[in-house]
Amino acid sequence: MALAIMVTLVLNLILLFSVVSTVNSLSFNYYEKTCPDVEFIVAKTVKAATAVDKTVPAALLRLHFHDCFVRGCDASVLLNSKGSNKAEKDGPPNVSLHAFFIIDNAKKAIEATCPGVVSCADILALAARDAVFLSGGPGWDVPKGRKDGRISKASETIQLPSPTFNISQLQKSFSQRGLSMEDLVALSGGHTLGFSHCSSFRNRIHNFNATHDVDPTLNPSFAAKLKSICPIKNQVKNAGTTLDASSTTFDNTYYKLIIQRKGIFSSDQVLLDTPNTKDLVSKFATSQDAFYKAFVKSMIKMSSINGGQEVRKDCRVVN
Ligand code: HEM
Repeated sequence: MALAIMVTLVLNLILLFSVVSTVNSLSFNYYEKTCPDVEFIVAKTVKAATAVDKTVPAALLRLHFHDCFVRGCDASVLLNSKGSNKAEKDGPPNVSLHAFFIIDNAKKAIEATCPGVVSCADILALAARDAVFLSGGPGWDVPKGRKDGRISKASETIQLPSPTFNISQLQKSFSQRGLSMEDLVALSGGHTLGFSHCSSFRNRIHNFNATHDVDPTLNPSFAAKLKSICPIKNQVKNAGTTLDASSTTFDNTYYKLIIQRKGIFSSDQVLLDTPNTKDLVSKFATSQDAFYKAFVKSMIKMSSINGGQEVRKDCRVVN
């Protein structure tokens, strides 16, 4: 009798351990049995949306980054504000995020095939991977099994790195999330895609500091170009510039521009400020292959930052 109880106890402990370890760790075949078509559905949705609007891949990549840096990759960035709670998406750095409808579309198609199984956080991680690949960048296998969070606060978007950050502020922001300086340089390469509004870099081109009107680390002719796009009294709604010259192609142009002192944000340009990060910028500018390898490694690391407790039915509201 005592032996039977002991055996049951041990078996229960083994079961509990295996459940806990699947809950806490991501795996490549997470939906193999429960939703085998999930990756196909997400890729199809992202492809269709990109065919209509070339700005979609950049938006999806940035959405995933902003999700992972606040409360982990738990789709908290997708939740709508409700009652007196202002959600992350309505926080200052996130008002320019877009392409939320693509995640909604993918979620609808997935719920129709395998209801209640696939988290919004996983859909977002897959969509970011597809966005890079569709833009001519590398592909990779995404570990899955993230859970969606139940909390989203606009006030917490203060935790996102600012484009005015210096290298030690960037290092701190990344290391707090278990990310290294190599991850910082590789992931900043996400700025090979997309667009910036004048407001994100205007501090560099007007009244920079007491002695310089323009940030002296900016290439002078490039600074003049930015000034003409973003004059001090800007009248053009949504004025701004692409982050690199080939802003819908995922390539290593971003690093070449930094070396020419044509990085858009201070946070891009300061990657030249330490020998280690400067060497990595040169390496990625010289070898697109080295950039791709490092980017994939760092994306998997970033997109594995923990968060979340449930699988939401609707990506915009908690269950
Ligand atoms: C290192 C710290 C970072 C800072 C300070 C930063 C800051 C910014 C800012 C200010 C914008 C422009 C927003 C606007 O004016 O509309 C932007 C755009 C963008 N960022 Fe970052 N970012 C950082 C890292 C990253 C990372 C790690 C990724 C992805 C791996 C990323 C991907 C993007 C993309 C794709 C866009 C363009 C979005 C679009 O066109 O819709 N950024 N970033």
